[in-house]
Amino acid sequence: MTEPDNPRPAASIATTLIHHPYQPPAGFAAPQPGVFKASTVIFADSAAMRARDWKSKAGYTYGLHGTPTTFTLEERIATLEGGHHTVLVPSGLAAITLTDLALLGAGDEVLIPDNAYGPGKELARHELARWGITHRFYDPLDASALAAMLTPATRLVWVEAPGSVTMEFPDLANLVRAARSTGAVVALDNTWGAGLAFDPFALGGDGEPESGVDVSVQALTKYPSGGADVLMGSVTTRDAALHERIKGANMRVGFGIGANDAELVLRSLPSIAIRYEAQARAGRELAAWWTGRPEVSQVLHPALEGSPGHEHWKRLCSEAAGLFSVVFDERYPRAQVDAFVDSLKLFKIGYSWAGPVSLVVPYELPAMRAKPRWTGILVRFSLGLEDVEDLIEDCRQALQALARG
Ligand SMILES: Cc1ncc(COP(=O)(O)O)c(C=O)c1O
Repeated sequence: MTEPDNPRPAASIATTLIHHPYQPPAGFAAPQPGVFKASTVIFADSAAMRARDWKSKAGYTYGLHGTPTTFTLEERIATLEGGHHTVLVPSGLAAITLTDLALLGAGDEVLIPDNAYGPGKELARHELARWGITHRFYDPLDASALAAMLTPATRLVWVEAPGSVTMEFPDLANLVRAARSTGAVVALDNTWGAGLAFDPFALGGDGEPESGVDVSVQALTKYPSGGADVLMGSVTTRDAALHERIKGANMRVGFGIGANDAELVLRSLPSIAIRYEAQARAGRELAAWWTGRPEVSQVLHPALEGSPGHEHWKRLCSEAAGLFSVVFDERYPRAQVDAFVDSLKLFKIGYSWAGPVSLVVPYELPAMRAKPRWTGILVRFSLGLEDVEDLIEDCRQALQALARG
C-alpha cells in the first residue's frame, strides 16, 4: 500500500504561504486587464536591480513608478488624448500641480486664464508665489492681450476650454500661437473635452499642424471615471523630453495612484464615448429649454449661439460635454435662487461632474472674477445619466420656488 502524498510542506506554513511555489498557467485572457497591487517590485537578481530603468516601460522598479495596471491605464489615456506619454496622479488638481512643479522655478512666470479652475489659481497665489514663481491672470477671449503680457520670464501658459463655471470658449489655436512666440510651454486643462470633443495636440487653426498644446491635463475624476467615486488625474504629452521632465518631477514628489482606483477607471473607459455623447445630448436639450426663459438673462453653453466663444467651439469641436450654466436675472437675490436650487429633487447639490447623478452648484461671480461679465447669481448644471425629460420637469417644478422666493 502506497502512502498518500503529504501536501504539508517541509518548511513552516508561514514561510511556505509567503513563498508559495505554485504558478498559475500563463495565457489567461479576459475582457478587463488584471489588477496588480504593489509597493515592492521583486527583481530577478542584483544585476536586474542595478539595471533598472524608470524612464521606459520595459520593466518595473517600484510600485509608485508603475505596475502592469498603471502602465496599461497610462497607455489608454495617452491614446484618448492623442498623445504619446501619460503620467497618472491622485487628482485633477494634482495633475495641475505636477505640471507647475515640473516646468516652473524661482524667477519664472505662469499665465493663467481668468476663468481657469479655481484651485489651480489658488495654487499660484499661495505655493507658487512662496516659491518665487509669479503669475498673472489673462482674459482668454483676447489672444492679443495674452501676447502683450508675455515676457522672457513666461515659461508656462495655461489654457482651458471652455472656462470653468462661466463656460467661455477661447480660440485655443490663437492662444497657443501667441504663447509659442516667446517659447513658453502651453498646458491645457482638457477635463471638459476629455480627449473626445477635440484633439488637444492638433488644434488646426490657419492650417498649422503644429498648433497643438504641449501638455494636456485631465481630471480623470470626471468622464474617464464616470462614477463619481474616484479621484485621479493625468498629464499627457507628445514630446518625450517634456514627458521625462514631468515624470522625473513626479518620481521625486511621489504622487502615486492606488491600484483599486486604476481598476475603476479601466473599467469605465470602454463606455466613455457613449456616456460623453449621452450626457452632451442631454446637456444641449436642457440648455435649449432654459434659453429664452424669462427667469434667466444668459445661458452659458459653448454649443449655443450667443454663448461667449461659440464660434471658436464650432470651428474646433465635434461635441460639447454635459455641462452648462445659467445666469439668473438680477431681480432674483441669492435667497431666491437658493430656494430654486434647494427645491430640485433629481439634481443634487455638489461639486464635480460627469457622474451618473445630475448636479448643481450656485456661484456668485463677483467673488470669482476680476471683471465679471454677469452680475446675477449663476447656477451650473452637470448632467448625469437620468432621463432628460425628468430633469427638465425637475427644473420646471423648482422654478415655482424661485417665484415664491
Ligand atoms: C476643469 C477642472 N479641472 C480640474 C479639476 C480638478 O479635478 P479633481 O477634482 O480630480 O482634483 C476639476 C474639478 O472639478 C475641474 O472642473
